[in-house]
Amino acid sequence: MRILVLGGGGREHAIVASLVASPRVAHVYAAPGNGGTAAIAENVSLPVEDGAAVAAFALEHAIELVVIGPEAPLVAGVADDVRAAGIPTFGPGADGARIEGSKEFAKEFMRRHGLPTGTAQAFSALEPALAYLEEVGAPIVVKADGLAAGKGVTVAMDLGVARDAVRECFEGRFGEAGSTVLIEEYLTGPECSLLVFTDGHTVVPMAPAQDHKRAYEDDQGPNTGGMGVYSPVPIVTDTEHEAMVAAMRAAVEGLAEEGIDYRGVLYGGFILTAEGPKLLEFNARFGDPETQVVLPRLEGDLAEVLLAAAEGRLADVELGWRDEWAVSVVLASGGYPGDYDVDMPITGIEAAEALPGVTVFHAGTRLAEDGTVLTAGGRVLNVTALGHDFSSARDRAYEAVALIDFDGVFYRSDIGAKAQRGRDAWQV
Ligand code: GLY
Repeated sequence: MRILVLGGGGREHAIVASLVASPRVAHVYAAPGNGGTAAIAENVSLPVEDGAAVAAFALEHAIELVVIGPEAPLVAGVADDVRAAGIPTFGPGADGARIEGSKEFAKEFMRRHGLPTGTAQAFSALEPALAYLEEVGAPIVVKADGLAAGKGVTVAMDLGVARDAVRECFEGRFGEAGSTVLIEEYLTGPECSLLVFTDGHTVVPMAPAQDHKRAYEDDQGPNTGGMGVYSPVPIVTDTEHEAMVAAMRAAVEGLAEEGIDYRGVLYGGFILTAEGPKLLEFNARFGDPETQVVLPRLEGDLAEVLLAAAEGRLADVELGWRDEWAVSVVLASGGYPGDYDVDMPITGIEAAEALPGVTVFHAGTRLAEDGTVLTAGGRVLNVTALGHDFSSARDRAYEAVALIDFDGVFYRSDIGAKAQRGRDAWQV
């Protein structure tokens, strides 16, 4: 099979790594890919949000499956154009991707289908939004409606921060994405990501994972795209897991009822409240960095799974999850999630990967002409380790992290630590 993967982060490196391991796969292109995909696939330069250009490339290169990693091409409708060209595509069309592209749409969808979630109200003008904040008080969550590269959500512990967040949206900080604002109930509890494969009918849940979104130790500092992750998630009870799976099945049924032919990953971002799991958000794609711990645990052929989902026959494939633990630590550029420098030479990746069970997924890297791996983004590497239990996976991941270096590198040293202390660690 010849496959084109769109995207260039750690998620896409993990997807490409699983695809090239399949005996069915002859060639993988990554657009644009990164320093990691360059070593195992062919990186190509393509305008990934231009559906016509992606379809033309796919036809010209006899691509048999297109896999869309990031949200922006999904929301732009790239999957629609590629499917219209007759090529199986893993990823929803623009109608399905609205579940991530509009927080207001997602919240109304959750309400229409009775899915568990917090209360929220949408506003398209500043004054009514500010008046609502006075009415409900803090803590409260302010969300820009559209895609904002992970920066559109403010968890405001006081009203001043909430008011500033609302003003920033309406003053255009996120462009059109902030022209509608969702003000949402603040919920407390541990978060858990539950992703499912679906062809629009059959739903195959993946292993749960827990991301660490704040930049600094002990969940302090600004929100990021994710600083580390582990799977499975021992603090989730069987009852909670069943409730999350039921909500995801109901969501896929809801999409089908609304006439949306959804083929790809549906990502449920849950918070485990005292009243049970509630949905914070949906994403229309694999999570990043969740994918970097979930796919290494997949027992089965990812190429077969993705093609079956794209072709509407997911019920035909079998997959399972290795009885191993995976922990992934993000190495970031100094200054991330704010401004940071790039082009720092990275050392130690080979030594880290020589450790048993360790894989270093590249996120923001590129290869210099002499083969040196250079930093090229905020989140640079995802150092991932498998182990027979949580402690051994964590210890291995951090042993590998210690071998890698670049100017300004920073990472959290507490990935998975809270979960190892148990559920009480989330009590405030
Ligand atoms: N890990 C968060 C996300 O993928 O959106």
